[in-house]
Amino acid sequence: MIKNQHIPIMSNEILSFIHNKKNLSILDCTFGGGGHSKKFLELGHHVTAFDQDKNSFRIAEILKQKYKNIIFYETNFKNLDIIKLDQKKFNFILLDLGFSSLQLDDKDIGLSFKTNSKLNMNYLGGNLNAYEIINHYNQDDLQRVFYLYGQINQAEKLAKYIINQRSSKKITTNFEFIEVLRDSGVNFRSKKIHFATQAFQALRIETNNELNNLEIFLKKVHNFLEINAYLAIISFHSLEDRIVKSYFRDNKINKNKNLENNRFWGFEILTKKPLTASRIEVLENNRSRSAKLRVGKFIN
Ligand SMILES: C[S@@+](CC[C@H](N)C(=O)[O-])C[C@H]1O[C@@H](n2cnc3c(N)ncnc32)[C@H](O)[C@@H]1O
Repeated sequence: MIKNQHIPIMSNEILSFIHNKKNLSILDCTFGGGGHSKKFLELGHHVTAFDQDKNSFRIAEILKQKYKNIIFYETNFKNLDIIKLDQKKFNFILLDLGFSSLQLDDKDIGLSFKTNSKLNMNYLGGNLNAYEIINHYNQDDLQRVFYLYGQINQAEKLAKYIINQRSSKKITTNFEFIEVLRDSGVNFRSKKIHFATQAFQALRIETNNELNNLEIFLKKVHNFLEINAYLAIISFHSLEDRIVKSYFRDNKINKNKNLENNRFWGFEILTKKPLTASRIEVLENNRSRSAKLRVGKFIN
């Protein structure tokens, strides 16, 4: 029995862009627990969905029994060209980045620092995991991961300490890793968040290649948008949001400039500032507190 407890984030805000529109063709690149897709299907739209998580495939099968208009691909969204260009373009494309609550609760994935799981953090089924990073990366790579993806200023000190610790005993669980962080003498940034948050974020981003997946996707997505289609992206941390913000800014429609570059497409930016979840939504679903939604309208 698969639990479907992922509450879709900012769904009212997302649906407001397609209010009164019928029969749209929608690409949900991060199907997860199917929360957003279900909302689209209930309104009679056609959904094509991606997710690399096996549970998503099963949830999609269940949705298919009730709604016929859904096609699911168990794949990474960076592979969106598996949809043949001439065959399909979309009126709305959604990315709701990161991991789902179902994945957060999964002890085998071990994303939470509250549960003593084996070091893993791989929620997309790729080849890398956090154990491999912590126990086999060299000092430069460890430092890169913690500095770039965890924004830990003392990344060099942390990398050296990890290498020293693992030389006597492998670091195998989330709790052992937290112990290493605690004893490292590294000054973690914020008093507001758990001191392991940044290091966990860094390992998760590296393990799942999160930022690269997003960048590869963004290079291709314009090929899949109908004229006047919407591209909506929800991100949960500043590194992702920075990539999304730059993408829209660099591809903002400006007819003269775009013509000079021999490019005839661009986006009208519909969210000058990113939309955030309402106070009520944050009260009901704490995970929505860090969500940022940016939306662009595709002009061609
Ligand atoms: C925040 S959840 C999406 C929840 C979904 N919108 C819902 O309402 O149920 C993010 C989902 O995206 C998936 N995901 C993240 N990065 C992915 C990628 N590069 N390719 C495919 N799926 C990805 C995760 O496996 C996870 O299920």
